[in-house]
Amino acid sequence: MVTVKWDDDKVIVLDQRELPLREKYSAYTHYTGVAQSIIDMEIRGAPAIGIAAAMGIALAAFNLDVKEIKQFKEQMEGVLQHFLSTRPTAVNISWTVNRMKKILESGNDIQVIRETMKNEALDILKADVEANRQIGKYGSDFLDDGDVVLTHCNAGALATGGYGTALGVIRSAVEQGKKIEVFACETRPYLQGARLTAWELLQDNIPVTVITDNMSGHFMSSGVIKKVIVGADRIAANGDTANKIGTYMHSVLAREHGVPFYVAAPVSTLDPDTPSGTDIAIEERSVAEVAFIGDIQLVPEGVHVRNPSFDITPAANITAIITEKGVIDKPAGKGIKEIFSQ
Ligand code: MRU
Repeated sequence: MVTVKWDDDKVIVLDQRELPLREKYSAYTHYTGVAQSIIDMEIRGAPAIGIAAAMGIALAAFNLDVKEIKQFKEQMEGVLQHFLSTRPTAVNISWTVNRMKKILESGNDIQVIRETMKNEALDILKADVEANRQIGKYGSDFLDDGDVVLTHCNAGALATGGYGTALGVIRSAVEQGKKIEVFACETRPYLQGARLTAWELLQDNIPVTVITDNMSGHFMSSGVIKKVIVGADRIAANGDTANKIGTYMHSVLAREHGVPFYVAAPVSTLDPDTPSGTDIAIEERSVAEVAFIGDIQLVPEGVHVRNPSFDITPAANITAIITEKGVIDKPAGKGIKEIFSQ
């Protein structure tokens, strides 16, 4: 399965809105198409949108028909801002933009900048898959043979360059011969768990059971769920973690029931410049995602609806943050800056 790739000066994206019913790919030849596919959730998941943004920015460098370096740089600045405005919560887009900005600022030759940006995007993709494999190795130590593991949203191959973060940990444990069963929360309102996590695990023959989000407390209190593992969209300097709406609720229940709660994320998701969770911008998405399922209206017309797409899990609720550079144990207030600058 390919989530996003560069192919012959096109960016190819698996349309995740169509899953699990259809495996359909879109091919973009213009950067605005890639940016729109991030806004429209055709591609989603923090690392995956960071990679798509990198490819989109590189595509823009080829798209711009400009001969003058000064004019090229001015127009590329606009492109970087355009990608920054697509989705605000995941830090991976600004991480990518900063890397591309360095190339833009230090370059003097348009063709060299184009090629360097393309190679940078390919490197970001490759490094993400390698990081996920390493996260998987470190994280699998926390999973025992026979564990039932709860996950929320989709932090799998679909949300990354491949292999996944939270699902990468599960994959790695399974590759080592451990028997793991996954409880995938459906993840209202966008259903990433029911549609995407369940689909991905089915492909790998990893046993998966879908539950609605409000069932997690029941399965923790009855001792069924042994561990929780989720991905992240942004981890602040004090370890507070933004992830899909509902993650916070599971973390409170996990603490109440003594269930270990792990966050698996690459270093590109750490944000040492943001002091704490209260400083993280939470994306508010269309109310139609809550009020409708497909064409079916659930909520009476005229009723006020809210749709924050992420919430903040305080560091105090997190047992460990697993990165490719190592594990931050009991992350409250420590370790993030150090591991980021390693
Ligand atoms: O709105 P989404 O589907 O982009 O949200 C994705 C998540 O919250 C994931 O858990 C997170 O990005 C980590 S993906 C490895």
